[in-house]
Amino acid sequence: MAATLGEDTHMTDSGSTAPPALNSTRGNWGGRFGFILAAAGSAVGLGNIWKFPYITGENGGGAFVLIYLICIALVGLPILIGEVMIGTATQRTGVPAFRTLSRPGSPWMGFGWMGVAAAVLLLSYYGVVAGWTMHYAWLSITGTFAGQDAETIRGVFGKVFSSAGLNLSWQLIFMFLTTLIVLRGIKGGIELASKIMVPLLGLMLIALMIKASTTDGFAQATDFIFGMHGDDLTPGGILEAVGHAFFSLSIGMCCMLAYGSYLKRGTNIVASGTAIAGLDTLIALVACMVLFPITFAHGMDPESGPGLVFMNMPVALMALPGGSFWATIFFILLFVAALTSAISLLEVASSYFIDDLNWSREKATIVCGLAITVLGIPSALSGVPEGIYSEVFFGKSWFDGIDWAVSNVMLPLGGLGVALFVGWRMSATLRREVFTAGSPTLASLFGGWLFVIQWIAPAAVIIVFLQAIGVLDIGMFFAEAPAAELDTATTTD
Ligand code: PHE
Repeated sequence: MAATLGEDTHMTDSGSTAPPALNSTRGNWGGRFGFILAAAGSAVGLGNIWKFPYITGENGGGAFVLIYLICIALVGLPILIGEVMIGTATQRTGVPAFRTLSRPGSPWMGFGWMGVAAAVLLLSYYGVVAGWTMHYAWLSITGTFAGQDAETIRGVFGKVFSSAGLNLSWQLIFMFLTTLIVLRGIKGGIELASKIMVPLLGLMLIALMIKASTTDGFAQATDFIFGMHGDDLTPGGILEAVGHAFFSLSIGMCCMLAYGSYLKRGTNIVASGTAIAGLDTLIALVACMVLFPITFAHGMDPESGPGLVFMNMPVALMALPGGSFWATIFFILLFVAALTSAISLLEVASSYFIDDLNWSREKATIVCGLAITVLGIPSALSGVPEGIYSEVFFGKSWFDGIDWAVSNVMLPLGGLGVALFVGWRMSATLRREVFTAGSPTLASLFGGWLFVIQWIAPAAVIIVFLQAIGVLDIGMFFAEAPAAELDTATTTD
């Protein structure tokens, strides 16, 4: 007999494996391929193209890449499978999914609530960064960078960051586009958009990589990314790799859970999860193969922090033959990557109202889209000099404060919640049934996965979390790593 949903839930009594959809308008993916593309679109975002290359640069290249690959395989992928599993098993999004598998009022539902809160907060400032990508794409298309000297191009970022008008208008346009896609539903909106945008993103990235391979910096970049320069890798860098694996795979905030809930029971979630994590990691590595050769060829330092994408890259791209064209492709690529991630964040928020409060998709999406846009205003104004949002949280701007809380606190806690819930609370029969669905060979992987999700993943997340909030200083165990270095390494920018 098929497994029931939970040990003590109202759903158990129904005796059915697949619970009825709560709201007939919630929708479904057209197929597994659509799900994989949409989930890969969520995973591949600014984190891959903007953040991964610069943290790789800061942590010395190849050794960090290796640690990151291990983190993806040992912590990220098992939790990603766990998150999709909760969604697929219940056919519900975050809060109602946790409720269904435990009991109404259960504290586990807190992880669902935190997921919604984290998605809302993250999208509120992600929209601002996405707005910058649109502004840069616009400047490139209109040829504004052409003929300008390096200092002027680098100076554009300061101007954009401090301009209330530019930030607010681009954020508004970006949020409008995001809302428009989510409004059209799962199959006709998110899936269709992902089927167009993810392949487009791949093509643009390949074109840029081919161009990058023709520059003088290519050999140096390959050595930097794949060569072992272990000396630059600090314990803080190792923790940053775990944290970034969460961010990059979009886990810990119910995004993959929500996307999994539109997947039919019986789908092979292990193969799908592996494809998603594989694509995400491949694209992060290819992004390095684009950014580093181009910046190296221009004699720039790889460790240039967050300014890498918005300051060094436009200068280095404009120095190439056909500079405006390549800059246009690069910033459109960033914009597309941001958009396919943003839709998954808005979906987390909207799907709560659709599933739990029975709102129509139109009402839920418009209300959430508007609310998140308004909540993003302080982030959009964070760079305005002497503005009221530039020093809100202990000297940090609103933007940095929210980014810190989401990346260092909410995401690891959310990931921990998923690992503990799937590993220890979910019905053992249901867990096995959903894991092994789709292929009999998966049974041989089940034990290993369960061990990781019960022990390894929670332990890794707890260490990262304690380090991120400053309770633990793992550098103490490594004599040569000064604490100050660790502090900066774990702070997100
Ligand atoms: N994974 C996205 C990125 O790499 C960010 C993201 C996190 C999106 C969590 C959705 C949920 O940029």
